[in-house]
Amino acid sequence: MEVRGKNAIVTGAARGIGRGIALELARAGTNLALVDLGNPADAALTYNLAAQTELLRTVEEVKAHGVRAIPILADVTRAADCARMAAETAAALGSIDILVNNAGIIAVGLVADFSEQQWDRVMAVNAKGPFLCAQACIPHLLRAGAGAIVNIASIAGKRGRAGVAAYCASKFAVVALTQALAEELGAANIRVNAVCPGFLRTAMWTEVLNKVRLPLFESGEGRDNLTFMATQGTFLGREQTPADIGEAVVYLARADNVTGIALNVAGGAEVN
Ligand code: NAI
Repeated sequence: MEVRGKNAIVTGAARGIGRGIALELARAGTNLALVDLGNPADAALTYNLAAQTELLRTVEEVKAHGVRAIPILADVTRAADCARMAAETAAALGSIDILVNNAGIIAVGLVADFSEQQWDRVMAVNAKGPFLCAQACIPHLLRAGAGAIVNIASIAGKRGRAGVAAYCASKFAVVALTQALAEELGAANIRVNAVCPGFLRTAMWTEVLNKVRLPLFESGEGRDNLTFMATQGTFLGREQTPADIGEAVVYLARADNVTGIALNVAGGAEVN
Protein backbone atom coordinates (compact mmCIF):
# COMPACT_ATOMS: atom_id res chain seq x y z
CA MET A 1 0.00 0.00 0.00
CA GLU A 2 1.28 3.47 -0.82
CA VAL A 3 1.43 5.35 2.51
CA ARG A 4 2.06 8.82 1.03
CA GLY A 5 -1.12 10.87 1.29
CA LYS A 6 -2.83 8.27 3.51
CA ASN A 7 -4.13 9.00 7.01
CA ALA A 8 -2.92 7.28 10.18
CA ILE A 9 -3.72 7.25 13.89
CA VAL A 10 -0.86 6.67 16.33
CA THR A 11 -1.79 6.19 20.00
CA GLY A 12 0.64 7.11 22.78
CA ALA A 13 2.27 9.45 20.28
CA ALA A 14 3.38 12.29 22.58
CA ARG A 15 6.83 10.85 23.31
CA GLY A 16 9.09 7.81 23.14
CA ILE A 17 8.36 5.11 20.58
CA GLY A 18 5.01 6.61 19.53
CA ARG A 19 6.72 9.89 18.67
CA GLY A 20 9.34 7.98 16.66
CA ILE A 21 6.63 6.12 14.75
CA ALA A 22 4.77 9.36 14.00
CA LEU A 23 7.94 11.01 12.69
CA GLU A 24 8.80 8.06 10.40
CA LEU A 25 5.24 7.98 9.01
CA ALA A 26 5.42 11.75 8.46
CA ARG A 27 8.74 11.35 6.61
CA ALA A 28 6.95 8.83 4.38
CA GLY A 29 4.22 11.40 3.65
CA THR A 30 1.40 10.10 5.87
CA ASN A 31 -0.99 12.53 7.60
CA LEU A 32 -1.43 11.87 11.28
CA ALA A 33 -3.80 11.97 14.23
CA LEU A 34 -1.58 11.87 17.31
CA VAL A 35 -3.39 10.48 20.34
CA ASP A 36 -2.35 10.64 23.99
CA LEU A 37 -3.85 10.92 27.46
CA GLY A 38 -2.89 14.54 28.19
CA ASN A 39 -2.59 13.67 31.88
CA PRO A 40 0.72 12.46 33.34
CA ALA A 41 -0.83 11.03 36.55
CA ASP A 42 -1.97 7.40 36.52
CA ALA A 43 -2.73 6.16 40.04
CA ALA A 44 -1.61 2.62 39.24
CA LEU A 45 1.89 3.68 38.10
CA THR A 46 5.15 4.70 39.74
CA TYR A 47 6.10 7.09 36.91
CA ASN A 48 4.56 9.96 34.95
CA LEU A 49 2.95 9.56 31.56
CA ALA A 50 3.17 12.28 28.89
CA ALA A 51 1.83 15.79 29.42
CA GLN A 52 -0.40 17.57 26.91
CA THR A 53 2.47 19.97 26.08
CA GLU A 54 4.56 17.02 24.86
CA LEU A 55 1.75 15.93 22.54
CA LEU A 56 1.41 19.42 21.08
CA ARG A 57 5.20 19.66 20.58
CA THR A 58 5.24 16.33 18.72
CA VAL A 59 2.37 17.49 16.49
CA GLU A 60 4.48 20.52 15.49
CA GLU A 61 7.53 18.30 14.80
CA VAL A 62 5.39 16.07 12.60
CA LYS A 63 3.93 19.02 10.69
CA ALA A 64 7.47 20.21 9.91
CA HIS A 65 7.62 17.24 7.50
CA GLY A 66 4.89 18.84 5.38
CA VAL A 67 2.03 16.53 6.34
CA ARG A 68 -1.22 17.35 8.16
CA ALA A 69 -1.33 16.47 11.85
CA ILE A 70 -3.85 16.88 14.66
CA PRO A 71 -3.68 16.16 18.41
CA ILE A 72 -6.42 14.11 20.06
CA LEU A 73 -6.71 13.64 23.80
CA ALA A 74 -8.10 10.19 24.56
CA ASP A 75 -7.73 7.34 27.02
CA VAL A 76 -7.48 4.13 25.00
CA THR A 77 -9.15 2.16 27.81
CA ARG A 78 -12.44 4.04 27.29
CA ALA A 79 -14.67 2.95 24.43
CA ALA A 80 -16.28 6.41 24.15
CA ASP A 81 -12.84 8.05 23.82
CA CYS A 82 -11.83 5.56 21.11
CA ALA A 83 -15.05 6.20 19.16
CA ARG A 84 -14.45 9.97 19.39
CA MET A 85 -10.81 9.46 18.33
CA ALA A 86 -11.92 7.64 15.17
CA ALA A 87 -14.69 10.14 14.39
CA GLU A 88 -12.45 13.20 14.89
CA THR A 89 -9.71 11.69 12.72
CA ALA A 90 -12.07 10.83 9.87
CA ALA A 91 -13.67 14.29 10.06
CA ALA A 92 -10.35 16.17 10.13
CA LEU A 93 -8.28 14.05 7.69
CA GLY A 94 -10.98 12.45 5.52
CA SER A 95 -10.36 8.75 6.21
CA ILE A 96 -8.52 6.27 8.42
CA ASP A 97 -6.14 4.01 6.48
CA ILE A 98 -3.63 3.03 9.17
CA LEU A 99 -4.03 2.46 12.92
CA VAL A 100 -0.94 2.11 15.11
CA ASN A 101 -1.75 0.85 18.61
CA ASN A 102 1.32 1.99 20.54
CA ALA A 103 0.04 3.38 23.87
CA GLY A 104 1.30 1.21 26.70
CA ILE A 105 2.35 1.20 30.35
CA ILE A 106 4.49 -0.93 32.65
CA ALA A 107 4.33 -1.92 36.31
CA VAL A 108 6.96 -4.09 37.97
CA GLY A 109 6.74 -6.55 40.84
CA LEU A 110 6.70 -10.23 41.69
CA VAL A 111 3.29 -11.88 41.27
CA ALA A 112 3.20 -12.64 45.00
CA ASP A 113 3.26 -8.89 45.78
CA PHE A 114 1.57 -7.36 42.74
CA SER A 115 -1.65 -5.40 43.30
CA GLU A 116 -4.90 -6.23 41.54
CA GLN A 117 -5.21 -2.55 40.61
CA GLN A 118 -1.85 -2.64 38.79
CA TRP A 119 -2.74 -5.89 37.00
CA ASP A 120 -6.07 -4.43 35.84
CA ARG A 121 -4.57 -1.15 34.60
CA VAL A 122 -1.71 -2.83 32.68
CA MET A 123 -4.16 -5.20 31.01
CA ALA A 124 -6.62 -2.34 30.33
CA VAL A 125 -4.11 -0.05 28.59
CA ASN A 126 -1.92 -2.63 26.84
CA ALA A 127 -4.44 -5.31 25.83
CA LYS A 128 -7.94 -3.81 25.95
CA GLY A 129 -6.75 -0.52 24.43
CA PRO A 130 -5.73 -2.06 21.08
CA PHE A 131 -9.03 -4.00 21.02
CA LEU A 132 -11.13 -0.86 21.60
CA CYS A 133 -9.13 1.25 19.13
CA ALA A 134 -9.34 -1.45 16.46
CA GLN A 135 -13.08 -1.83 17.03
CA ALA A 136 -13.58 1.93 16.64
CA CYS A 137 -11.46 2.12 13.46
CA ILE A 138 -12.60 -1.03 11.61
CA PRO A 139 -15.67 0.61 10.00
CA HIS A 140 -13.43 3.41 8.69
CA LEU A 141 -10.74 0.99 7.44
CA LEU A 142 -13.44 -1.05 5.66
CA ARG A 143 -14.76 2.11 4.00
CA ALA A 144 -11.24 2.92 2.75
CA GLY A 145 -11.13 -0.50 1.01
CA ALA A 146 -7.59 -1.31 2.14
CA GLY A 147 -5.63 -0.65 5.26
CA ALA A 148 -3.24 -1.68 7.98
CA ILE A 149 -3.30 -2.08 11.73
CA VAL A 150 0.08 -2.26 13.46
CA ASN A 151 0.13 -3.20 17.14
CA ILE A 152 3.19 -2.43 19.23
CA ALA A 153 3.71 -5.57 21.33
CA SER A 154 7.16 -6.42 22.76
CA ILE A 155 9.69 -9.22 23.00
CA ALA A 156 7.89 -9.55 26.36
CA GLY A 157 5.00 -10.87 24.25
CA LYS A 158 7.16 -13.80 23.14
CA ARG A 159 8.61 -14.91 26.49
CA GLY A 160 7.48 -14.31 30.06
CA ARG A 161 10.02 -13.03 32.60
CA ALA A 162 10.19 -12.65 36.38
CA GLY A 163 9.00 -9.32 37.73
CA VAL A 164 6.96 -8.31 34.71
CA ALA A 165 4.16 -10.90 34.62
CA ALA A 166 1.30 -8.47 33.95
CA TYR A 167 3.27 -6.65 31.25
CA CYS A 168 4.23 -9.93 29.55
CA ALA A 169 0.66 -11.29 29.78
CA SER A 170 -0.65 -8.08 28.21
CA LYS A 171 1.85 -8.29 25.36
CA PHE A 172 1.11 -11.99 24.68
CA ALA A 173 -2.51 -10.81 24.42
CA VAL A 174 -1.51 -8.20 21.84
CA VAL A 175 0.20 -10.85 19.70
CA ALA A 176 -2.90 -13.09 19.92
CA LEU A 177 -5.21 -10.18 19.07
CA THR A 178 -3.00 -9.43 16.07
CA GLN A 179 -3.30 -12.98 14.73
CA ALA A 180 -7.06 -13.18 15.30
CA LEU A 181 -7.74 -9.79 13.70
CA ALA A 182 -5.48 -10.63 10.76
CA GLU A 183 -7.68 -13.65 10.00
CA GLU A 184 -10.92 -11.70 10.56
CA LEU A 185 -9.95 -8.80 8.30
CA GLY A 186 -7.87 -10.49 5.61
CA ALA A 187 -10.75 -10.86 3.16
CA ALA A 188 -11.36 -7.12 3.44
CA ASN A 189 -7.72 -6.41 2.51
CA ILE A 190 -6.90 -5.02 5.93
CA ARG A 191 -3.57 -6.34 7.15
CA VAL A 192 -2.86 -6.66 10.87
CA ASN A 193 0.67 -7.08 12.20
CA ALA A 194 2.63 -6.48 15.38
CA VAL A 195 6.09 -5.07 16.05
CA CYS A 196 7.97 -6.47 19.04
CA PRO A 197 10.56 -3.90 20.16
CA GLY A 198 13.55 -4.94 22.27
CA PHE A 199 15.36 -2.42 24.48
CA LEU A 200 14.71 1.32 24.11
CA ARG A 201 15.78 4.20 26.35
CA THR A 202 12.29 5.60 27.02
CA ALA A 203 10.45 6.29 30.30
CA MET A 204 9.70 2.59 30.73
CA TRP A 205 13.40 1.94 31.19
CA THR A 206 14.71 5.23 32.59
CA GLU A 207 11.86 5.73 35.08
CA VAL A 208 10.91 2.15 35.93
CA LEU A 209 13.03 -0.83 34.90
CA ASN A 210 16.39 0.86 35.56
CA LYS A 211 15.23 1.66 39.09
CA VAL A 212 14.50 -1.87 40.20
CA ARG A 213 16.89 -4.75 40.59
CA LEU A 214 15.20 -7.84 39.32
CA PRO A 215 16.88 -11.24 39.19
CA LEU A 216 16.92 -11.07 35.40
CA PHE A 217 17.98 -7.43 35.18
CA GLU A 218 21.42 -7.53 36.80
CA SER A 219 23.28 -4.42 35.72
CA GLY A 220 26.92 -5.36 36.14
CA GLU A 221 29.61 -2.95 37.25
CA GLY A 222 28.87 0.70 36.57
CA ARG A 223 26.20 0.07 33.94
CA ASP A 224 22.47 0.60 34.11
CA ASN A 225 20.14 -2.32 33.47
CA LEU A 226 19.19 -1.16 30.00
CA THR A 227 22.81 -0.88 28.91
CA PHE A 228 23.49 -4.32 30.33
CA MET A 229 20.47 -5.94 28.63
CA ALA A 230 21.10 -4.20 25.30
CA THR A 231 24.81 -5.04 25.16
CA GLN A 232 24.70 -8.55 26.67
CA GLY A 233 21.21 -9.68 25.70
CA THR A 234 21.24 -8.97 21.96
CA PHE A 235 23.28 -10.32 19.02
CA LEU A 236 24.04 -6.80 17.81
CA GLY A 237 25.10 -5.52 21.23
CA ARG A 238 23.17 -2.28 21.11
CA GLU A 239 19.89 -0.56 21.98
CA GLN A 240 17.05 -0.04 19.55
CA THR A 241 15.70 3.46 18.78
CA PRO A 242 12.21 4.89 18.23
CA ALA A 243 13.21 5.47 14.59
CA ASP A 244 13.98 1.70 14.25
CA ILE A 245 10.44 0.91 15.41
CA GLY A 246 8.98 3.61 13.17
CA GLU A 247 10.80 2.15 10.17
CA ALA A 248 9.26 -1.27 10.90
CA VAL A 249 5.80 0.27 11.21
CA VAL A 250 6.16 2.03 7.85
CA TYR A 251 7.28 -1.27 6.28
CA LEU A 252 4.28 -3.16 7.72
CA ALA A 253 1.89 -0.40 6.63
CA ARG A 254 3.24 -0.79 3.09
CA ALA A 255 3.76 -4.57 2.83
CA ASP A 256 0.80 -5.80 0.75
CA ASN A 257 1.33 -9.52 1.36
CA VAL A 258 2.29 -9.53 5.02
CA THR A 259 -0.33 -10.12 7.72
CA GLY A 260 -0.54 -11.84 11.09
CA ILE A 261 3.15 -11.55 11.96
CA ALA A 262 4.85 -10.25 15.11
CA LEU A 263 8.12 -8.76 13.85
CA ASN A 264 10.96 -8.51 16.36
CA VAL A 265 12.97 -5.29 16.17
CA ALA A 266 15.27 -6.29 18.96
CA GLY A 267 18.81 -6.71 17.68
CA GLY A 268 18.49 -10.50 18.01
CA ALA A 269 17.28 -10.48 21.65
CA GLU A 270 14.38 -12.68 20.46
CA VAL A 271 14.43 -14.69 17.26
CA ASN A 272 11.05 -16.46 17.25
P1 NAI B 1 6.40 5.83 27.03
O1 NAI B 1 5.90 5.76 28.42
O2 NAI B 1 7.46 6.84 26.73
O3 NAI B 1 5.22 6.07 25.99
C1 NAI B 1 3.92 5.57 26.18
C2 NAI B 1 2.93 6.62 25.74
O4 NAI B 1 1.60 6.10 25.89
C3 NAI B 1 3.01 7.90 26.60
O5 NAI B 1 3.01 9.05 25.78
C4 NAI B 1 1.74 7.82 27.46
O6 NAI B 1 1.26 9.09 27.88
C5 NAI B 1 0.79 7.09 26.53
N1 NAI B 1 -0.32 6.44 27.24
C6 NAI B 1 -0.25 5.68 28.36
N2 NAI B 1 -1.47 5.27 28.74
C7 NAI B 1 -2.34 5.76 27.82
C8 NAI B 1 -3.75 5.68 27.67
N3 NAI B 1 -4.52 5.00 28.54
N4 NAI B 1 -4.33 6.30 26.61
C9 NAI B 1 -3.57 7.00 25.73
N5 NAI B 1 -2.22 7.12 25.82
C10 NAI B 1 -1.61 6.50 26.87
O7 NAI B 1 6.93 4.37 26.67
P2 NAI B 1 7.47 3.73 25.29
O8 NAI B 1 8.65 2.92 25.62
O9 NAI B 1 7.57 4.74 24.23
O10 NAI B 1 6.27 2.71 24.97
C11 NAI B 1 5.55 2.68 23.74
C12 NAI B 1 5.12 1.25 23.45
O11 NAI B 1 6.28 0.45 23.19
C13 NAI B 1 4.39 0.56 24.60
O12 NAI B 1 3.31 -0.21 24.11
C14 NAI B 1 5.46 -0.34 25.19
O13 NAI B 1 4.91 -1.42 25.88
C15 NAI B 1 6.22 -0.74 23.95
N6 NAI B 1 7.57 -1.26 24.18
C16 NAI B 1 8.57 -0.50 24.74
C17 NAI B 1 9.84 -1.02 24.91
C18 NAI B 1 10.98 -0.23 25.50
O14 NAI B 1 12.09 -0.77 25.64
N7 NAI B 1 10.81 1.01 25.82
C19 NAI B 1 10.17 -2.40 24.49
C20 NAI B 1 9.04 -3.12 23.94
C21 NAI B 1 7.81 -2.56 23.78
